[in-house]
Amino acid sequence: MNGEAAIEVVGLARSFGETPALTSVDLVLESGGVFGLLGPNGAGKTTTVRVLTGVLRPDSAQTVRVLGYDVPGDIEHIRPSVGVQTDTALYERLTALDNLTFFGALYGMPKADALRRAGELLTRFGLADRAAEKVGTYSKGMRQKVLIARALIANPDLVFLDEPTAGLDPEAAHELMTYVRDLSRERGKTFFITSHRLEEMESVCTKVGVLADGRVVAQGSPTQVAREIVPEIRVRVAPAPGAQLDLEALGALAGVVRVRQDDGSAIIEVLARDAIPTLVRQIAAMPADLLAVAEEPPTLEEAYLRLMSTNEKHAEEVDAA
Ligand SMILES: Nc1ncnc2c1ncn2[C@@H]1O[C@H](COP(=O)(O)OP(=O)(O)O)[C@@H](O)[C@H]1O
Ligand SMILES: [Mg+2]
Repeated sequence: MNGEAAIEVVGLARSFGETPALTSVDLVLESGGVFGLLGPNGAGKTTTVRVLTGVLRPDSAQTVRVLGYDVPGDIEHIRPSVGVQTDTALYERLTALDNLTFFGALYGMPKADALRRAGELLTRFGLADRAAEKVGTYSKGMRQKVLIARALIANPDLVFLDEPTAGLDPEAAHELMTYVRDLSRERGKTFFITSHRLEEMESVCTKVGVLADGRVVAQGSPTQVAREIVPEIRVRVAPAPGAQLDLEALGALAGVVRVRQDDGSAIIEVLARDAIPTLVRQIAAMPADLLAVAEEPPTLEEAYLRLMSTNEKHAEEVDAA
């Protein structure tokens, strides 16, 4: 199954009354990959998840295929292979363990398997000692862990996690994302995740898509997307404490487009990457003591923020016209 598309969407549109949530979404996710769908509040991330899991019908779409089946038409064929965590309710008066085994039974799991798997997941998420308590007594983060465990209970091939780290502390969020990465790399599981934590997504996702104006406006590996949206080649020059950088001299070096200051360092934008080795040699020969001279690649967060601000500017121009 690896290499095939686990999810393929072309021209997906969905409105709520007069409000278009998705206008034309295109995306492809390879089997075994981890897709991160990014976008501001209200961009349509949850709507996309709900369409892909057959909860919501699209208004129109050229293609919505999940695990090789058309959605929503053939949804029943894939339900057993798909796990979903969204912002839904748990049974407050049942224990965490009972919530999970009940859900396992819905997937047709034998009771003993469901119990074992529920125990494993609760242990992994640090809830083993609270497993026999009613979910009604749980904190928000603890409930979130139960919802995620519920999505994983039947060992599905494809897992949708809609803002899974919302409400989790940083350590729990890190552990979850590490688990996601292990499940995809070692067990070939496919994940479709929405999140606002860009650093987290950058380190785990094999592919990201940015949703804006009802479309996926950029899509690719985190590095590809970051490079595409922030194409400048930059070098950071960090002076030693007390050392003074000569910005004018830096700006006069061959291949330098501009120099700006950032948090005590100089950020030098250069014409091309192959200008960097010569530049580094010249900078190292300058009188100021340095801690580091290194290329400064764009981060996914930087690309995302730039994309959002150009999008807003574009929207203002359209409004003004
Ligand atoms: N059930 C609904 N009824 C009316 N509008 C909805 C409904 N679900 C979502 N929307 C609207 O669709 C847009 C996208 O929402 P959503 O998919 O929840 O965004 P996200 O998950 O990216 O924050 C928003 O404008 C939201 O108000
Ligand atoms: Mg949402």
